[in-house]
Amino acid sequence: MAVQPANNPVAYLNGQYLPLEEARISPMDRGFLFGDGVYEVIPCYNGKLFRLEQHIQRLIRSLDAIQLPSPHSLSEWCDLLDGLVLRNDSGHQSLYVQVTRGAPPLRDHRFPTDCPATVFVLSQTLEDPDARSLDAEAGIRCISTTDIRWDRCDIKAVSLLANVLLRHEARLAGCDEAILVRDGFVMEGSTSNVFIVRQGAILTPPLGPAILGGITRDLIIELANRHGLPLQEVAIPVAQLEQADEVWISSSTRGARPVVMLDGKPVGDGRPGALWRRMAEYYAALRRELMGVGHF
Ligand code: PDD
Repeated sequence: MAVQPANNPVAYLNGQYLPLEEARISPMDRGFLFGDGVYEVIPCYNGKLFRLEQHIQRLIRSLDAIQLPSPHSLSEWCDLLDGLVLRNDSGHQSLYVQVTRGAPPLRDHRFPTDCPATVFVLSQTLEDPDARSLDAEAGIRCISTTDIRWDRCDIKAVSLLANVLLRHEARLAGCDEAILVRDGFVMEGSTSNVFIVRQGAILTPPLGPAILGGITRDLIIELANRHGLPLQEVAIPVAQLEQADEVWISSSTRGARPVVMLDGKPVGDGRPGALWRRMAEYYAALRRELMGVGHF
């Protein structure tokens, strides 16, 4: 089996591993025409897929939610993704997995019958999470803005137009991420979950249809419990975000990142906070400890 360098990645499309540049999808694909599909982003460190089963279980939940039968079982998904990792550079990569409702002959909003799903997996190089020393971590800038998304943000749907517009709004303001507010409460970021530190406790909005149940969010909750850090899943009024001692965002590709500037004002003293630093160290230790023992 030939291993491809990162600048010429191997992708997976409908049962075949092939160079990405040779992958072709029909313009009739419902992912293209309707955004009718779901996806996952799974980090892979030194050739080891991180929290693979949790990601696949969430993919299967997203598929159930859009009434699209999973084309593979959990173990088939694991084998398929491991196969792609092996065919690409063994360093850090992220796998993007997309499943759509296929490419029927007609454009028709109604679900097609007898149309196989399209399964596409892409490997992209992932920045070495240990390359940035914790001390040098500068933190990121965010805006807060109105959540313009739909009512099923718990589904990891490929129809991400609202998220794309919100992330662009952040970029136009010279920021990295948009923190979304709905009815006066913090929901999540346009591509991440949100945590704040207030009166010594870590707070994060509770799960529900308005936010994605992040795998990294789960991990942070797990690490807080394991190390005795107080963490509560509670509704966060926007005023608490504005007055927070620390704000973090989390996602699979970025881990936990400290927000040092929100809407042009410093968060806390404008530097990454002490609780974030502890969490980032626990996270890095877990990743290193578990690296080399298969999926984790
Ligand atoms: N996004 N909320 C939203 C809206 C997201 O898009 C993401 C991740 C998260 C964090 O989920 P997790 O910890 O499982 O990555 C929360 C991915 C990385 C993306 O769309 O590229």
